[in-house]
Amino acid sequence: MDPLADLDMTRRGLLMGTAATVALTVGSLPMPARAATGEPAPQPVASPVTATVSFTVNGTAHDLALDTRTTLLDALREHLHLTGPKKGCDHGQCGACTVIVDGRRINSCLSLAVMHQGDRITTIEGLGTPDKLHPMQAAFVKHDGYQCGYCTPGQICSAVAVLKEIEDGIPSHATADLTARPRLTADELRERMSGNICRCGAYSNIVDAITEVAGREA
Ligand code: FES
Ligand code: FES
Repeated sequence: MDPLADLDMTRRGLLMGTAATVALTVGSLPMPARAATGEPAPQPVASPVTATVSFTVNGTAHDLALDTRTTLLDALREHLHLTGPKKGCDHGQCGACTVIVDGRRINSCLSLAVMHQGDRITTIEGLGTPDKLHPMQAAFVKHDGYQCGYCTPGQICSAVAVLKEIEDGIPSHATADLTARPRLTADELRERMSGNICRCGAYSNIVDAITEVAGREA
């Protein structure tokens, strides 16, 4: 073994050991002793700012006093115990949290609850019931449009809103003719549903389910 390399390793070990000891010692010092080290004293935690927000969820009016930082997703899941909207990424990337607000779909993880004063919100729980499924829910079951089901509430809310977008003539990135009403092609559907990720890869069956409902409604 090279004695110089040996010496270098010993010095490095000594430095790391010393740094760890200092960190442990400072962490356990009482406050006045900490101040003597120059470390800033921890600030007292401020109480959260709260506000009351009133909205309608699945036809029921709610008034909630919430921390203003609460997302709509957390308000629905944690305060109203509607666990249909799922928290997948919490970053607007997966679509598992999709709900319908005044007829338009949104990622509820990206929206603060206090921004929805007076809004009408629909989650998967408000679309249909186990005895009387919404046509889109029934089509997903029929076409096997899911496996684990985690993304499914968001997929179905999105699909319902997509049909409304097409009916309203709203073009997408895949619409070739912006002056005509969009046609419900597989490309159009895949583009519009691209914000809803399915880790189980049920995409083809999801397109079949939406196409069937669209055909019935056309
Ligand atoms: Fe909202 Fe993923 S949880 S987009
Ligand atoms: Fe499992 Fe879509 S059904 S993630």
